Amino acid sequence: MHATRVDRRRTPITPSQTARQNGPATPDEPLRVSTGGTWIFGYGSLIWRTGFPYAESRPARINGWSRRFWQGSTDHRGVPGAPGRVVTLIESANVECRGRAYRLERRIEEEVLAQLDHREKGGYERVRLPLYFDDGSAVEGLMYHATPANPNYLGDAPLEEIAGQVLTSHGPSGPNLEYLLRLHDALRELDAHDPHVEALTDAVLRMQSEP
Ligand code: SIN
Repeated sequence: MHATRVDRRRTPITPSQTARQNGPATPDEPLRVSTGGTWIFGYGSLIWRTGFPYAESRPARINGWSRRFWQGSTDHRGVPGAPGRVVTLIESANVECRGRAYRLERRIEEEVLAQLDHREKGGYERVRLPLYFDDGSAVEGLMYHATPANPNYLGDAPLEEIAGQVLTSHGPSGPNLEYLLRLHDALRELDAHDPHVEALTDAVLRMQSEP
């Protein structure tokens, strides 16, 4: 897997950097470096509440990652002391994660990235990695990843426990349940089968319907 953590204070990616750091998309196909502006890969709220201007958006996937409700949220879907749960990614061999990619306009790219850094400040860092489109092409892009090293990370727990936390948490951006259900619906629209999100949604709906 060719994923590189990015220091946010650094200047934007240049074509020569990307080509050096990521190598080919497949052994015989060079990774295309976008000249039109950085691509951002969204796999959580960035799919259904994009909230920033972009020049182009396409369904996309990344390889070797699984989506999990393992990141605590104290600034969007929970509060300090009562965190909600939002998604991050864990490295998983032979698994692909489907989401949506957005190409930024170069002239406002730095502003948009600064906005996103602020929005994702609860534990996420930028990672540079290849994004794959449905037509078989690939580009260099960025995604926001929360690792176990961040203070809000919660990690794994029994499904019912995660479901209970999602059902009861609430933060400045709204109910945690909204985050899960909107993500679930957005993934359906993208034709993405995500067993973790589906099992969690089923568990939450089951709990909700219990007397
Ligand atoms: C993302 O959507 O790509 C990052 C996680 C989130 O903000 O939900």
